[in-house]
Amino acid sequence: MSPLPSDFPASDFPDGFLWGTSTSAFQVEGAAAADGRGPSIWDSFCRLKGRVDNGDTGDVACDHYHRYAEDVALMREIGVGAYRFSISWPRVLPRGRGVVNEAGLDFYDRLIDRLLEAGIEPWACLYHWDLPQALQDLGGWSNRDSAGWYADYAVLCARRFGDRVKRWATFNEFSVFTLFGYALGWGAPSVSDRGEHLKVIHHTNLAHGAGVDVLRDLVPGASIGAVHSFQPCRPADPAPETVEAAALFDELWNLGFPDAQILGRYPPRLARAIEPYVKAGDMARICRPVDWFGMNHYAPLFAQAEPGAVWGCGFGAPPEDMPRTDIGWPLQPAAFHEALLHATARYRLPIYVTENGYGTKAAEAPDAQGIVMDRERLDYLRACIGEMVRALKDGADVRGYFVWSLLDNFEWGGGYGTRFGIVHVDFETQKRTPKESARWYAALIGGPLAGQPNATSGTGRPTGRT
Ligand code: FCB
Repeated sequence: MSPLPSDFPASDFPDGFLWGTSTSAFQVEGAAAADGRGPSIWDSFCRLKGRVDNGDTGDVACDHYHRYAEDVALMREIGVGAYRFSISWPRVLPRGRGVVNEAGLDFYDRLIDRLLEAGIEPWACLYHWDLPQALQDLGGWSNRDSAGWYADYAVLCARRFGDRVKRWATFNEFSVFTLFGYALGWGAPSVSDRGEHLKVIHHTNLAHGAGVDVLRDLVPGASIGAVHSFQPCRPADPAPETVEAAALFDELWNLGFPDAQILGRYPPRLARAIEPYVKAGDMARICRPVDWFGMNHYAPLFAQAEPGAVWGCGFGAPPEDMPRTDIGWPLQPAAFHEALLHATARYRLPIYVTENGYGTKAAEAPDAQGIVMDRERLDYLRACIGEMVRALKDGADVRGYFVWSLLDNFEWGGGYGTRFGIVHVDFETQKRTPKESARWYAALIGGPLAGQPNATSGTGRPTGRT
């Protein structure tokens, strides 16, 4: 029998510790053509043959655009104190700049107001990978003007929502969308070119700096950060070329963005490569004071040399004896402890864990009693929270934790076949069913769902048990 959530008494967490859930616009909203939304680069990518499992698209997703009130009610049941969502740039500016789509802004007004009524703090992220296609047609992030386009978009959002939204993230996982989109060819806009990749690294950093300035100027009492993917990066074997490849991969994946934004310099290998794109004064524009470090953590990375690849490095295999999920992600919760201590020491900012979760290709459908027994996810979340508690005791300055994700959703190249939600979504009917991991999380953070009979079956069960 697995231990109960009472493994983590409230005294394990600092006063005011924030518990939340995360989603992103493209992954949950759907309503792709509703009310004047423009296309994004992910709408285009989904239409490229064979790029997304099963040919899935974001057209409907979880229909959060229409079902947000039900989703806020679910969050209330789970007991979260905060909801991290992203604003869809092409929903509010269908062509990326210029004419504003009032109906798109209205949607976020409704969502924010509903969250506040439910006592849930809105955490808005300005960019979770869905660049307006119209801006891509002008070169997208490869165009140095993109920092200015982004700043104008930030002004619009800050003015409209800044009276109610105080927590802002400039971007989600710069390193992942730039690597996948410009080097590895696994994501929009599907470019594989080192020079282009270097430009977009620098331009998104410039956009971040401009965004921080806008938010600071326009949102009274703003608490601003950026969200970074942060996973210990290990060589797949001890060969010297593997060790060097892992050091380079670590800079591209983990350090390139937060070092520039918080320490004011690129890490050494990247600094040498990016130098032709850096103009006088740029590093000061990028390195603007932020209030927190957003960390998305899932699993350690194993890297190896890959001579034909854009950077000569790429993913290697984890050690054979290391367990993995059915989507191939290594399971080593202690890597979370390592990442939290590393970020605390290197960046000296309060940390919010803005994503942590478990994905699977298993169908996870409700059983005859309406129970979704996602034991592996529950066990992994519990192990990760245990590692976070250990890191807190060892001096990590963690202020909050957001599960990825509230809902099963569009998992990028994995489409709807890869599920990360603590709430199951039946994509035929859009029915939501809290999984056992949601009940467990509710028991941990004090949400009423923990004590309720199962929503689907109506049969009561002991809470928080697996
Ligand atoms: C992160 C992304 C998020 C989600 C999770 C599983 O890299 O930020 O959108 O896809 O992975």
